[in-house]
Amino acid sequence: MRKESSIHGQWSSRLVFILAATGSAVGLGNIWRFPYIVGEHGGGAFVLVYLACILLIGLPIMMAEILIGRRGRQSPINTMATLARDEGLSRSWSLLGWLGVVAGFLILSYYSVIAGWALSYVFRAGAGSFSGQDADGVRAMFEGLVSDPERLLAWHTIFMVMTMMVVARGVRSGLEQAVRILMPALLIMLVLLVGYAMAEGHFMDGFRFMFRPDFSRLSGNSVLVAMGQAFFTLSLGMGAIMIYGSYLSSRASIARTSATVVGADTAVAILAGLAIFPIVFASGLEPGQGPGLIFITLPMAFGQMPGGVLFGTVFFVLLLVAAWTSSISIMEPAVAYLVENRGMHRVGAAAAVAGVAWLLGIGTVLSFNHWSGYTLFDRTFFDLVDYLTSNILLPLGGLLIALFAGWRMTERSVMEELGIRRPLLFRTWYYLVRFVAPIGILLVFLRAINLI
Ligand code: TRP
Repeated sequence: MRKESSIHGQWSSRLVFILAATGSAVGLGNIWRFPYIVGEHGGGAFVLVYLACILLIGLPIMMAEILIGRRGRQSPINTMATLARDEGLSRSWSLLGWLGVVAGFLILSYYSVIAGWALSYVFRAGAGSFSGQDADGVRAMFEGLVSDPERLLAWHTIFMVMTMMVVARGVRSGLEQAVRILMPALLIMLVLLVGYAMAEGHFMDGFRFMFRPDFSRLSGNSVLVAMGQAFFTLSLGMGAIMIYGSYLSSRASIARTSATVVGADTAVAILAGLAIFPIVFASGLEPGQGPGLIFITLPMAFGQMPGGVLFGTVFFVLLLVAAWTSSISIMEPAVAYLVENRGMHRVGAAAAVAGVAWLLGIGTVLSFNHWSGYTLFDRTFFDLVDYLTSNILLPLGGLLIALFAGWRMTERSVMEELGIRRPLLFRTWYYLVRFVAPIGILLVFLRAINLI
């Protein structure tokens, strides 16, 4: 028997699901991670591969993840176990849910540290600290923050508690209203910033950097990083979108909803790039400087523009909100599992998950200072966790989701759940999820380890 709703509740409308899923998708990945990895991987060609991954792999897998979640109506672990049983398949499929839970802990641990930077910058912007600073000044401010483990730990702790508080209350109450107002506000801020970059920065240099492909700068590893970014930014491959799908009404169209979320997420990432690179080039900064990129370029712009104190404060508040609506979705699958299988109350479950992720996050905190010299494969602890999750665990989760929906569930079940009435549309999706996405992921994996 298919369940009509999850024990954890249900979104009040399709629109709310779109806002919640967009809230999950749009976050640090778009505004912080996207520009800095585009900078590290040389611009245009990387962006092109990223966009191809979004369209050919991300969108079809998002639809698959939502349909699986809505059919199972439980935490990813139990959803996979239930669907595997219903379809007469091996119970090992629930391991896919476990993979997601592990990835979720790892992502949440460092996500909270970076969101802590945003939190700290809200206060710096509000205090007017950026006024009149040059490139060296803003860089010194950034380095002052990340070289101080106690401050990083304090902000990390506050952000983790913020996330825990929302998850403990249940996603539906409070969050629905917040995303409704804050998501459009974020978009308006970004458009304004792009406007500023067009007027004041070297807009065409930035534009060219992002859209003129130079394939000589693209290594096999860059392709893997572009694909990893597609998974990360769309919140795919670890059960976050799956569990959000489990709170979606049976009547809502999965195809239309997914297209909207993917479109909004991509628009925000592109806008963030268009806002940041012109400033980078105008001030002679290095596009490939890594995770500090937006925390150095944007304060400089805010320090110089009229109304920069207000503008800057609002921007970091919105960045914080974007990170918040994302981190909630990273925490939710593990919490739902504890509630379902260990009979825990949501409050205790959220505290337990937050506690473990918080502890792991200390590794990231230290990797920017005391542990910055300890590297494995030339990567710090933070780099390793980030690389392992985005570039390996999420695509692996996505591959298994595509294989499950494309090859192991019956065509009847997926058709029924998707409810796509136009045969051509369904065929296209089915083809993407059965062939293009899995083969694409495998090829990128093989290319990255230089086997092809
Ligand atoms: N997509 C979010 C961002 O771009 C981060 C995120 C939320 C995420 N939920 C996720 C990443 C699940 C991976 C998996 O910031």
